[in-house]
Amino acid sequence: MSIQWFPGHMAKARREVENNLKLIDIVIELVDARVPHSSQNPMIQEIIAHKEKIIILMKRDLADQAETESWLQYFKDRAIHAIAVDANNPSHIENLIQRVTRLGQTLQEKQISKGVSPRPIRAMILGIPNVGKSTLINRLANKRIAKVGDRPGVTRHQTWIKVRRAFELLDTPGILWPKFEDEEVGVKLAAIGTIKDQLVPMQDIAARMLEFLQENYPEGIKQRYKLGPDDYDMWENFEQIGRQYGALESGGKVNFDRVANIILQDLRAGRLGKITLESVESLKL
Ligand code: G4P
Repeated sequence: MSIQWFPGHMAKARREVENNLKLIDIVIELVDARVPHSSQNPMIQEIIAHKEKIIILMKRDLADQAETESWLQYFKDRAIHAIAVDANNPSHIENLIQRVTRLGQTLQEKQISKGVSPRPIRAMILGIPNVGKSTLINRLANKRIAKVGDRPGVTRHQTWIKVRRAFELLDTPGILWPKFEDEEVGVKLAAIGTIKDQLVPMQDIAARMLEFLQENYPEGIKQRYKLGPDDYDMWENFEQIGRQYGALESGGKVNFDRVANIILQDLRAGRLGKITLESVESLKL
């Protein structure tokens, strides 16, 4: 589903999240490991206020591993809990469950020390479109995990997934809007597919990505498209890729929209290598 964000949508999303926040102890905030900063909701901290939070850098299998390590260190330096996850890797899911469990235990110990009898720890997943929220909920709700079901009172209309004996997870995620104030951020979000292709100038985005790759990750495009570091003429590059992949119109002219689509699909599927589009250093610029 393509989601366009208008002030009304944003207010509604915020209201829904704020209502659900009353029910939970821990926010699991998903960002994309390829763009850990640009894929955050701009108001997340304001919305979740003082809740306990863990950031999950999703799709780590597609990101540059060294950059992911730098981002994890960045969060650690700021005392923010963060881990990187490939949803298809069971050991990453296990690690995530353990981290949330540990956070929950700390919260429960606090409750006990205040004389409150501990209750099950509850969590919810938050994130921008296409970041992997449903995938992660499905992974956490595997066969060994029983649904808790609706509860009368506070959790009416809400279904909770019991993740082992560890914690309960709201079965619907909070969908938040991405950042759109900055053109650079928009290009990155379009490149990873947050913003639907029909809504963005695909050729411009694909050309910007080719430039970025030439500068930062030249190996993938050299292997796949035979592009070298001196191939700066984007029109030529599109022509070459179009002919190589048969993205032609009748009459033999290269169809640039199809070329843009090939480049972006290759990038998103990791066929141009493991790529991170923003570094920790870029935040300081
Ligand atoms: P959302 O609820 O936040 O909108 O995201 P959703 O779970 O639908 O995931 C969006 C896409 O991201 C899906 O691919 C999903 O498979 C993929 N994805 C989620 N987590 C990971 C991950 O850790 N690694 C990788 N490589 N991909 C991940 P899709 O192409 O839209 O659909 P599908 O055909 O793959 O299911």
